[in-house]
Amino acid sequence: MAGGFVSQTPGVRNYNYKLTPKVFVTCFIGAFGGLIFGYDLGISGGVTSMEPFLEEFFPYVHKKMKSAHENEYCRFDSQLLTLFTSSLYVAALISSLFASTITRVFGRKWSMFLGGFTFFIGSAFNGFAQNIAMLLIGRILLGFGVGFANQSVPVYLSEMAPPNLRGAFNNGFQVAIIFGIVVATIINYFTAQMKGNIGWRISLGLACVPAVMIMIGALILPDTPNSLIERGYSEEAKKMLQSIRGTDEVDEEFQDLIDASEESKQVKHPWRNILLPRYRPQLIMTCFIPFFQQLTGINVITFYAPVLFQTLGFGSKASLLSAMVTGIIELLCTFVSVFTVDRFGRRVLFLQGGIQMLISQIAIGAMIGVKFGVAGTGNIGKGDANLIVALICIYVAGFAWSWGPLGWLVPSEISPLEIRSAAQAINVSVNMFFTFLVAQLFLTMLCHMKFGLFFFFAFFVVIMTIFIYLMLPETKNVPIEEMNRVWKAHWFWGRFIPDEAVNMGAAEMQQKSV
Ligand code: BGC
Repeated sequence: MAGGFVSQTPGVRNYNYKLTPKVFVTCFIGAFGGLIFGYDLGISGGVTSMEPFLEEFFPYVHKKMKSAHENEYCRFDSQLLTLFTSSLYVAALISSLFASTITRVFGRKWSMFLGGFTFFIGSAFNGFAQNIAMLLIGRILLGFGVGFANQSVPVYLSEMAPPNLRGAFNNGFQVAIIFGIVVATIINYFTAQMKGNIGWRISLGLACVPAVMIMIGALILPDTPNSLIERGYSEEAKKMLQSIRGTDEVDEEFQDLIDASEESKQVKHPWRNILLPRYRPQLIMTCFIPFFQQLTGINVITFYAPVLFQTLGFGSKASLLSAMVTGIIELLCTFVSVFTVDRFGRRVLFLQGGIQMLISQIAIGAMIGVKFGVAGTGNIGKGDANLIVALICIYVAGFAWSWGPLGWLVPSEISPLEIRSAAQAINVSVNMFFTFLVAQLFLTMLCHMKFGLFFFFAFFVVIMTIFIYLMLPETKNVPIEEMNRVWKAHWFWGRFIPDEAVNMGAAEMQQKSV
């Protein structure tokens, strides 16, 4: 495939590369990193709605779930139960901070390997869990794994990909996440029908499969040219660049990478640097994009779709089936983003997806409100319940081609090398923190805010859509090391980027700014 759409920002260089089998295969394997995250996202909701699991570890919730008098909105409200889901994200938050150093010093692939390894141990703890402590320790280990993988994989993909196809490649991460979710929901569907404790053990224990896939993947993957240069292997980096770009004519890109690395080496403190005014756009974006991604409310669906569907009066099997359907829709719709993100750009997808999510959330909230009212009692007819599932699918589709993949793509492509690992660490930890909050608070919020919860998330979707419209410049086809020109040309961010920044090295810039 010939590359080279013309960038919209004046002065930005366009490299013209073909898609080589090597880069395709490498990124395909690299994207496995998303599987562990996805598998976990998809498995916990189903497991927490399985009766034998609740009986074994959360008998109080189990009793409440069975009670005919319980308010529908509050059936599953238990801090301990949500802690099971959310503890993983706290661990991921913490580990992403260490992972940033490992990713920088030892390369992206070793960070992925470590991610797979800790995830593997965590899956064993969970599969064989005898008590809550074992469950939680397992979850924490899984979280460490997710933190390492989420830190390194998006950066790996963005650096490997030809600039003109970076969006599509990076979206491979999200495809893998959703694939992991779908596989997990299918497994849950079958294991939920098993008698006794074996079902949930299989669901949790099978997390070892994606873990092994990443470990093997990481062992055979080459490191990115950027990382090789960063660690002093310039010759190897050039050969790697030539082989992944499928041509010997890589001098221009190679020189850009060398320059970027030289500059970044002189910049000693990525964490202090990112606070400098000239990196304000990256700092704000890497904080706000993951924050907003979580405030779309997507994980209410991801984690608790089976619980939510049971709340709507579906049987346990029908709930798991509906969760599977929403997962498959999400997977298919993520491909829309893969095929359009480098053509139409990030902004169009963000804005269109935002509007679609907004409309469907309002409709879902209104329907649940009408049917269950504030008291949370009542029954919902089959037709209405199906309509709600359809609306949830429309909402999920909107997320799947906008905030889902772009929430990972944009933060990983906007930062220059000298702050990249710090920026990605912020991105992952903010994402994990709000994933944790939503996971921890959702069931309580549903219990107290009732159908208003959907309006709560809709409100944030309005804010984030306006934010993107005003603050995010288009970054499609812009080589990562040339991103400064895009900020410079932006109506608001331009004031933070000194004129020389588009031509001058980071080290010189730092001296000027201090
Ligand atoms: C988000 C997750 C979400 C997943 C699937 C990812 O991009 O970061 O929080 O669960 O998409 O919807």
